[in-house]
Amino acid sequence: MDTGRQGPSERRLFLLSMLAGVGALLGAIAVWPLYRYLAPQGGGGTTEQVAIPLSDVPLGAARFFDYHGRPAVLVQVQAGEYVALSAVCTHLGCIVKWVGEKRHFLCPCHGGQFAPTGAVLAGPPPQPLASYRVIVQSGKLLVG
Ligand code: FES
Repeated sequence: MDTGRQGPSERRLFLLSMLAGVGALLGAIAVWPLYRYLAPQGGGGTTEQVAIPLSDVPLGAARFFDYHGRPAVLVQVQAGEYVALSAVCTHLGCIVKWVGEKRHFLCPCHGGQFAPTGAVLAGPPPQPLASYRVIVQSGKLLVG
């Protein structure tokens, strides 16, 4: 006679299936932030230029901007001479800051210093800041 009740082995199988499902869900939730942190940034392969108004980059000042998902910076090093650099320190990847009164970049993590051209002045960075092509066109700086 069928009473409609599940036997002990069917209940055990059902509970194990539920536990496996919940475990997989919790695992995915735990791993997702790590995946997002380690995954490459979108737009890395694009060649699209970024336009910044000339008036945003006065002489001796730095203008930070987003270059295809990466922090970058423009500096007018001399009148009419512009440099576009990655703002990512070549030591361990911290974001450099512009020190206007000293006219250089300072990495807040380990004290690395870079010239406005990106050259290493002091500290542990092994290489200059990466540079990007920049041209002046129709009152704008086109980077990339
Ligand atoms: S990360 Fe910039 S000096 Fe270490």
